[in-house]
Amino acid sequence: MLNKIKIKDKIQPFNKSIRVSGDKSISIRCVLLASQAIGKSRIYNLLESEDVINSLKVIKKLGINYSKKKNFYEINGYGLDGFSVEKNLTIFAGNSGTLARLILGLLVNCKNKVKITGDKSLSNRDFSRVTNPLSEFGASFSNNNNKLPVIIQGTNFLRPTKYFEKLGSAQCKSAIMLAALKTDGKTIIKSKKSRNHTEIFFKNLDIPIKVKEKSNYDHIEIYGKSNFSGFSYDVPGDISSSAFFLVLTLLTKNSRLTIKKVNINKTRIGIIKILNKMNANILFKNKMKYKGELVSDIIVKSKNNLKGVKCSKNINSSAIDEFLVIFLAAAKAKGVSTFKDLGELNKKESPRLDIAVKFLKSIGVKVKRNNNDIKIYGNPKLDLKGKHIMKDFKKDHRIFMMTCVAALTLGGKFEIYDKDSINTSFPNFINLLKKLGAKLN
Ligand code: S3P
Repeated sequence: MLNKIKIKDKIQPFNKSIRVSGDKSISIRCVLLASQAIGKSRIYNLLESEDVINSLKVIKKLGINYSKKKNFYEINGYGLDGFSVEKNLTIFAGNSGTLARLILGLLVNCKNKVKITGDKSLSNRDFSRVTNPLSEFGASFSNNNNKLPVIIQGTNFLRPTKYFEKLGSAQCKSAIMLAALKTDGKTIIKSKKSRNHTEIFFKNLDIPIKVKEKSNYDHIEIYGKSNFSGFSYDVPGDISSSAFFLVLTLLTKNSRLTIKKVNINKTRIGIIKILNKMNANILFKNKMKYKGELVSDIIVKSKNNLKGVKCSKNINSSAIDEFLVIFLAAAKAKGVSTFKDLGELNKKESPRLDIAVKFLKSIGVKVKRNNNDIKIYGNPKLDLKGKHIMKDFKKDHRIFMMTCVAALTLGGKFEIYDKDSINTSFPNFINLLKKLGAKLN
């Protein structure tokens, strides 16, 4: 069977309610933290995607058992020193930067060497952003030009460190936090703003942590070596998966969509702020707090008069995985949209900024690029004709899903390769599109 889909019709108006699958960042953190707990944890609504399944396989290789029960996963940890690391162990992180980087944080005390490998895309990404700070704790590394495979050798003599995380990378910050968990004494992290699920988890689990939020960065202090018990957690829906449906609805005439129980942590809702600034009127309903995280239904309606937006770079980290669909909305809006300082986008599963600019130009959108800043000249009348083929995007799941939204809202006949890419983060994507009436084959 060919691993591509064809879309030749726009989606028809819909009025529906859906639930997207569990948040990927939270799912991976659940698995990794449950592997450090003493006793059994129960995780409901865990995202069953390749990145998360690889996380489960990784902890299993490190001696932590898990099992799938009727509607939850059970993970049985033995505390902070509970990993058993055989000699010559290799673990495979697949496509997941979050898994590969966070697990390194948990391995700073490993007794034997562990080799971390990944797929082709992950093997092209930079690991110095985590090996540098983790070396300061005392772990040693060998690697090939800061790329995978990375071999880590942990130590019994971990020393707490003081580190300034300047990239605004939650993966990097979280790897340091997990290393801090294994280390006696006080670790201090000054961190450029990024998603804060790990901080919220630590508070929840009574791990001693202090966070002072400053305007441009957070000051975090962690006291390590504090064991915690198994926990129960119900993973909320993923805003990054919801993003595709938000833009799909905005750009489809006479449509309305409710997305139930989505995580709307303030460090993740950049997309909603940006789209609302464009005139979108996306609303939250039934907001509630769950273990420190904000969860809400999201309501979105079609909008035929979106306007261009000037995006300040301060919002980048809270919308980092959503820019691809935000660009689509900008392409259909009236006026020019500007986005600044998006260099980190090129360091994801594929060089997303390069690929997005090329794609937008290929469908007739005027884009000007100056280094990592782009200007999109929107055109509300954008209506595609003819054939459009999308391939060579390094099997990046989010590029695949963005292109589906383009095909279903802008017209034209699309052929999109590498459908299986969605399995890393959102295997249910196509089924949900079909539920809304999309015709795909
Ligand atoms: C993630 C952080 C972000 C994001 C990624 C998931 C996380 O990466 O792009 O999809 O779960 O911590 P960076 O931390 O590298 O920005």
